[in-house]
Amino acid sequence: LVAGVDSSTQSCKIVVRDAVTGELVRSGSAKHPDGTSVDPTFWWTAFAEAAAKAGGLADVAALSVGGQQHGMVALDAEGNVVRDALLWNDTRSAQAAEDLIAELGDGDRTTGAQAWADAVGSVLVASLTITKLRWLRDAEPENAAKVAAVALPHDWLSWRIAGYGPQGDPTAPLGPQLDKLFTDASDASGTGYYDAQSGQYRRDLLKLAFGRDDLILPRVVGATESGAVVHASVAGDGTALIGPGAGDNAGAAIGLGMQPGDIAISIGTSGVVSAVAPQRTQDGTGAINGFADCTGNALMLAVTLNAAQVLDAARSVLDADFGKLADLALSAPAGSDGLVLVPYLQGERTPNRPDASGTLHGIRLKNMTQAHVARAYIEGMLCGLADGMDALRALDVPVERVMLIGGAAQSPAVQEIAPQIFGLPISIPEPGEYVADGAARQAAWVLASAEADAPVDAPAWSTTMAKTLPANPVPVVREQYAAVRDLV
Ligand code: XUL
Repeated sequence: LVAGVDSSTQSCKIVVRDAVTGELVRSGSAKHPDGTSVDPTFWWTAFAEAAAKAGGLADVAALSVGGQQHGMVALDAEGNVVRDALLWNDTRSAQAAEDLIAELGDGDRTTGAQAWADAVGSVLVASLTITKLRWLRDAEPENAAKVAAVALPHDWLSWRIAGYGPQGDPTAPLGPQLDKLFTDASDASGTGYYDAQSGQYRRDLLKLAFGRDDLILPRVVGATESGAVVHASVAGDGTALIGPGAGDNAGAAIGLGMQPGDIAISIGTSGVVSAVAPQRTQDGTGAINGFADCTGNALMLAVTLNAAQVLDAARSVLDADFGKLADLALSAPAGSDGLVLVPYLQGERTPNRPDASGTLHGIRLKNMTQAHVARAYIEGMLCGLADGMDALRALDVPVERVMLIGGAAQSPAVQEIAPQIFGLPISIPEPGEYVADGAARQAAWVLASAEADAPVDAPAWSTTMAKTLPANPVPVVREQYAAVRDLV
């Protein structure tokens, strides 16, 4: 058996699968606290609770951890966190991102943006770890001075599972051992100080941001290698392998079995449009992040901050549950008779508009019905994601098929409207835990490679598609959206 862990923004999910067939054997989950600044200890206790609910992990031969990307877990020399981790969706470092762009461009934003994209694949936004380190340096110099190592959420959890952790913590029998931290290329590629193309940390950029280049950074473990073993105090007899793990989007990509030409669109806390390709992009406009996946390919990503929560907002405005929201939306015509929502309800990351707000435009007597409003919210949210898809196309990334994932993908209204807006065939996978499943698949891959004493191919199992919806382009919806977006 193998286990896959998804330590996400909202919860910890664990699946236990057969290492050969991939069959799901058991699973468990536990909640994380809300907020964009969180004590990592909660991830540890949620992991323990989820593992107990999944029937324990004593019988697994390998596990891997996928996790929310980018969060800054700053550790002191004793292995304690110096402050709560700042998560990917914490925007307090937006100005730090702008400052770093200007500094690398000698005062010119365009030059600086391209320089960051060339160096690390991404133009900096507040999500990326390096901007949080700059913020820490300036806003909390006392904490900054204590930092001995920086890890990402999944690195930190893998390290704890291997038995390391703060000195004096009885659940961390081995003490700090910061040099035992490890990560993988996919998550490292989202820090802003790792170049996935060369496979090297860019300590010069870290020094630019944080003023020091003596921090311990997690060792980057290869796709089929194990970074450590599960400590016997956590589960089993101290022999189960811990795989390299992955950023959650790379975890989902391997869980879904994505191939070049496929794009995954995930409607969750963040909206993510991702594509796998042989080489990473260097998009100086900042629309696309050129990250790595966890198989040796590149993973290009456009991330919006306004996805599932836009539908939650619609439900609250309309006092409707998901079923009623879908019924209402489907009773209005495509294009909502000119009612357009630009959904920047929480600012936006793609396009990079952290201070923008949303707009409901084109109000007329004929479209002031609950049905039109419901449809406009769904259309606007999907158009925001379609902008991400266009940004991939603009970089010549092949876009042939969409896999639509996340809870909202199950909505009948989303399933009818998405093929109109994306204009491509859409596959809807069986509902599942794609990130945890991807982590389990990675664990099985690491285990098979260890048994063969050489890297082998990834196991063939991956998520199956429940249905494919044919393309049904209705161009007017995106046309009217684009006209309003460009006014905002
Ligand atoms: C990716 C990103 C989000 C988080 C969510 O760049 O910021 O998708 O990984 O967990």
